[in-house]
Order: sequence, then structure tokens, then C-alpha cells
Amino acid sequence: MSNLQVISTPAAMRAWSEAARARGEHIAFVPTMGALHAGHVALLSDARKRGDRVVLSIFVNPTQFGPSEDLARYPRDLAGDLAKASSVGTDVAFVPEVKDMYDPGYQTFIDVRDVSQGLCGGRRAGHFTGVATVVCKLFNIVRPHAAIFGEKDFQQLAVIRRMVADLNLPVEIIGHPIVREADGLAMSSRNVYLSPADRTRALAIHQGLAAAGERFAAGERRTVALVEAALAKVKAGVDRVDYIELRDADSLRPIERLDRPAVMLAAAFVGATRLIDNLRLG
Ligand code: PAJ
Repeated sequence: MSNLQVISTPAAMRAWSEAARARGEHIAFVPTMGALHAGHVALLSDARKRGDRVVLSIFVNPTQFGPSEDLARYPRDLAGDLAKASSVGTDVAFVPEVKDMYDPGYQTFIDVRDVSQGLCGGRRAGHFTGVATVVCKLFNIVRPHAAIFGEKDFQQLAVIRRMVADLNLPVEIIGHPIVREADGLAMSSRNVYLSPADRTRALAIHQGLAAAGERFAAGERRTVALVEAALAKVKAGVDRVDYIELRDADSLRPIERLDRPAVMLAAAFVGATRLIDNLRLG
């Protein structure tokens, strides 16, 4: 399947979508920052099943990176991305330039309040404002009926669901389960930064969450004890734990006891690479 069309300007993307909509076609959309791996490809395959047309966006969004983050060295592989996208029947890759997404006079940002607080939002100031803003812009340009996001970025998914509800955006948001390597490491574009030794140590994040899962299965319901179980394992592998927290799976508010659907979220540094993962409990 190689009918993949690359579109680079917002105007051309919008025109393509208007034409598809006029034909009555259902558009499923997968926004990404490129450096596609099997997790992204799973989202595209899911989109393929749901839509008549599948649109992928590849845009390393500068407004969601902090000043000391990896914007300049974020992995890029457009040729590889297009080959992967094409292999699962993607119709369009929207690959805009920064100047066409943010002109020099750009002034408008979307602030999704409570769910952006704490966790990654607490460590990466302005990150979710950048994410919400670019996703809203992409929705207005691509005009999808449905958009698919990975549960790997659990807080991001919660922020986007909140934004879509709050701003009455006519897009169905679909969450996709985390895609993992055979040994359990959550797939991430940032895994390419890891040396083989760091790659092995990074496994501790998933193992720590799994240890909390075992404690939960054995009947433990206290947040402190569940977090402690995860922390012990994660600490043993990584260089620095950024956070491990148990939160309500819907509101993302902190909980003291696991008496409702919850999610344990973790972020940790292995060398200079910051990795995230999470596990639903209950
Ligand atoms: P990016 O990190 O490229 O991720 C694009 C999409 O792929 C996100 O919805 C993310 O949750 C999903 N994804 C990444 N790794 C995954 C995995 N192992 N399993 C399942 N899904 C996975 O997230 C972003 O880009 C950006 O913030 C974006 C939403 C595109 C806005 O710029």
C-alpha cells in the first residue's frame, strides 16, 4: 500500500479534509512527533480500522518543550516514518513546518487547568499548554471525526479529553493501550537515546509498576504501600525517580486508598533520558 500523500501546508491539509468530508468519508487522525515506532504504528492500524481515511501528523511541536529539554536533538526520520505509515495504509502524512504552525505574531495558548497540574505538568512547566494548543490547532486543520492517543502518555490523554469536552470540539477521542517491547519496556521515541546498558536499567520502571500490580492483586489498597512497592524496584534500576504516584484514573486527582479505578504513573531518568510509564489498577 503506497498511496500515502504528504501534505505540508495547513491550507492544503484543510482542503483535503473538506473534500473528504464532502464525500461523506470518516477521518481518523493520529497526531505524532515522528520517529515512529511500533506503538505509533499500532495507533495508525487502529485508525485504519475506524476510519475511511487515516491522517497522520508529524510535527515536533516547539511549544511543548521546555528550554532545557531535547527539542533540538529530538529524533527525526521522515523517510522511515513515511515507509511505516504507508505499510499500514495511512492516506495522508501532514508534515507542517514550524513557521506555518506558529507565525511570528502567534499569541494564543490553551490552558487546561487541574489535570495539567502535577505529574509531568509539575515537572515540565508549560508542557501541557503546548500540547493542548497544538492538538487543538491540528484538530482545526485536519478536522478529524476521531483522534487516537496512546495511554502511555496518560496525563496527556486526560488533558486532551478535558479540552475536547470543555471547548465542545467535535472530535471523538480514543485511547489506545500502551505498546511494549517483548521484555515490557514501554515503546518511546526517546528509547533510541539509551545505550544497551541503560536500556536494561530502564526496564526497572515497568518492573516497579508490575510489583505494585502484584501487591494490589494480593489485596493491598493503601496508596503509600503500593507506591513503596513500585519505588523499591524502580530506584534499583534508574538514576533518578522523577515521580511515582497513584491517581484517580479519570480525574487524575491524588487518592489515599485504591477504592476506585486508578492509575499508577511513573517518570524516571536513566542517564539524561526521561522515561514515563503507567499501569492501571482496579
Ligand atoms: P509522540 O510522543 O510522538 O506520541 C504520539 C502518540 O503516540 C501519542 O498519542 C502517544 O501517547 C502515542 N504513543 C507513544 N508511545 C506509545 C506506546 N508505547 N504505546 C501506545 N501509544 C504510544 O505525544 C505526542 O507525540 C505529542 O505530545 C503530540 C500529541 C503529537 C502533540 O505534539
